[in-house]
Amino acid sequence: MGKTIIVSNRLPVKITQENNELLFNSSEGGLATGLGSIYKENNNIWIGWPGMIIGEEEEKDVTEKLKDLNLIPVFLEENDIKHYYEGFSNEILWPVFHYISTYARFDPDNWESYKEVNEKFATVILSYLEPGDTLWIHDYQLLLLPGIIRKQFPDISIAFFQHIPFPSQELFRLIPWRKELLRGMLGADLIGFHTFDDVRHFISAATHLLDLHVDGNMIRSGDRAIGVEPFPMGIDAQKFSDLSNDETVIEHIKSLKEHYKNQKIFLSIDRLDYSKGIIQRLEAFELFLQENPDYHEKVVLFMIVVPSRDNVAEYQRLKNEIDRIVGNINSHYRKLEWYPIAYFYQSYPVEFLSALYNIADVCLITPMRDGMNLVCKEYVASRNDNTGVLILSEMAGASKELIDAIIVNPNNIHKVKNALIEALNMPEEEMRERMIAMRQMVFKYNIYHWVKIYMQRLKDIKSTQLSMK
Ligand code: UDP
Ligand code: G6P
Repeated sequence: MGKTIIVSNRLPVKITQENNELLFNSSEGGLATGLGSIYKENNNIWIGWPGMIIGEEEEKDVTEKLKDLNLIPVFLEENDIKHYYEGFSNEILWPVFHYISTYARFDPDNWESYKEVNEKFATVILSYLEPGDTLWIHDYQLLLLPGIIRKQFPDISIAFFQHIPFPSQELFRLIPWRKELLRGMLGADLIGFHTFDDVRHFISAATHLLDLHVDGNMIRSGDRAIGVEPFPMGIDAQKFSDLSNDETVIEHIKSLKEHYKNQKIFLSIDRLDYSKGIIQRLEAFELFLQENPDYHEKVVLFMIVVPSRDNVAEYQRLKNEIDRIVGNINSHYRKLEWYPIAYFYQSYPVEFLSALYNIADVCLITPMRDGMNLVCKEYVASRNDNTGVLILSEMAGASKELIDAIIVNPNNIHKVKNALIEALNMPEEEMRERMIAMRQMVFKYNIYHWVKIYMQRLKDIKSTQLSMK
C-alpha cells in the first residue's frame, strides 16, 4: 500500500525565532489541530509551510529536524507571503468565501503569486510522490494544486478538502480567476466540504461557470468522474476528554476556579478574524450588562483572541476595534474587585484551553460564518460531567450537527443577549440532556471516523473510475 501525503499551506508545527534560536510549536487553527492527531501513522508525510521565513543557510537544518516528525517543509519567501498568503489567500479568497466580498482586493499580482506558489508546492510534492500513493490536499490556499498534479500523474488518487465555506456562486463569480480555480479543484477525485450547503454551492458554481455534466453528487470532467460530498470534520474527542484528568490541566483548573470562585464564566476562544463575530458578541455582552445590573460581579466573559494574519489591513483594524470596545466596556462597568471581560490576546497550549473548557459554565461561539468551528466541539468533548451550555451561531458548520446547543443568529444581538440569560438559568436536567446528546455526536463522529470515511469514499470513487475505463 502506498503512503498518504497530506498537503496544506501551514504545517501542524510552526517555527518561530527567539534569541537567535528556532523554536518548534504547535500551529493553531482547525486544520492543523484536527489532522494533528493522525498524520504520524505509517510512513505518511505532511508537506507545508513552517510558518516563517527561513534563511537559506538554515533550510537544511530545519528540513532535517522536521523530517523526524514526518514533516516536509515548503519554504516561502517574503514576496510569496505578501502576495500568495496575505494577498490572494487572505485578502481575496477568505473574505469572498466568508461572504464579506467588500473586503476583497482583486490585485492581479496576487494571482500571479498564487499560481507560482501552488507550482512551488507541486515541485516539492513531485519529489516525494510515487505511483500508488494518495495525495490529500487541504484548503483554499492550494486550490490549483490538484489540477497541477493531475497533469503529471493522470491516475494518482487525489482528495481535496476545503475547511472554509464555499460561497453561493453569485459571490464566487466575483473572483476574476474563478474558472481557473474551479479547474484546479476538479483535478481531485473527491472534493469535500463540511456541509451540504457548501457542496450545493460548489456544484452550482461548477455547472454555471464550466461546461460540465453533473449527476447527483458526481461531476464529469473529461473522462473522469469526480465526487463532491459533505464530510463534517470531527475532533479527537477522547483526547479532550482525557485531558481533563491531566495533572497540568488539574492545576490550571484549581487556580482558575479559585480566581473566579464567585463568578459564572462565559468562554469565547477564536483566532482574530472578522468572520468570528467578535465585535457583535461584545455588543451582545454589553447589552446584557446594560439591562441586567443584577448580574454585575457575578459573571465574567473570558475571551481569548489568538493573533492571526496581523499584516493584513482588515485584521489590524479589527484588533484596534476589539481593544477599543473591550476597554470601553471594562472601564464603564468595572468595580474595585471586578471587571466584566478578561481579554487575552495570545495563543495558549492545549492544557490551558482544556482547563478553560472544564471551568466555563457557558461557551459562546458566534461566528458570522465558519466552515465548521472546532472550539465548540472541544468544549463539548471536555465536559465529562455533562454540565455546561453551548451557545452556537447558526452560521457555523457545527450548528448542523450540534443541534442541542442554544442556536443563535449572531447578527441578532438581542437574541444572543437572551441566550446568555437562558444559559445562566437553564434547569440542570435540560443542561445535561442537551450536553449528553452533543457529546454522543462529537464522540461518534470523531476525527478518526472522518479520515476513515473520507479515504474509503476516495477508494470507492477510484474503483468506479477504473470500471468506467
Ligand atoms: N487553538 C489553539 N490555541 C489557542 C486557541 C485555539 O491551539 O490559544 C486551537 C483550538 O483548540 C482549535 C483551533 O485552534 O482546535 C481553532 O479551530 P476552529 O475550527 O475553531 O477555528 P479556525 O481557527 O480554524 O478558524
Ligand atoms: C483556518 C483555515 C486554515 C488555516 C487556519 C489558521 O482554520 O481553514 O487553512 O491554517 O485558519 O490560519 P493561518 O492563516 O494562520 O494559517
